[in-house]
Amino acid sequence: MNRRDFVNWMGVGALATSLPVALAACGSDTAEAPADAPADNTAAAPADDAAAADGFESIGTVAELDEAGALASSNFQGTQVVVTRSPDNPDTLIAVDSLCTHQGCTVDWDGSAFACPCHASMFNPDGTVASGPASAPLPVYEAKIEGDQVLVKV
Ligand code: FES
Repeated sequence: MNRRDFVNWMGVGALATSLPVALAACGSDTAEAPADAPADNTAAAPADDAAAADGFESIGTVAELDEAGALASSNFQGTQVVVTRSPDNPDTLIAVDSLCTHQGCTVDWDGSAFACPCHASMFNPDGTVASGPASAPLPVYEAKIEGDQVLVKV
């Protein structure tokens, strides 16, 4: 066997060795398609699609909001959100990013304002600072009620 024959033989060998791996990889992609079925089931829920289409997503029910006074999530569309009814107009919802702008503690709704438990900053219902040490307002998000759901758009 000369050098050229050897290189050609090695090339065919490498192809023959890698072909089953390549076919297996293609086969596993095809085999994973049925595993994606739950995503299709999720997409089939019309209410979720409608909420996702306009950017609003449910954070809870109106009954839960009224019972607890506020709805909070530590992972809502990638951020922290707390929603409550406006003390001045209960038909209006208030949604803010619940991450305190001072050093990042989670603020709580106390019935009339957002209070930070770490260094006692207070935020007005519209997210503005009522008292420091925080100096920047809480980001405010859109919120609304549709049916029995409280929806927030981050
Ligand atoms: Fe909220 Fe310091 S982290 S006041």
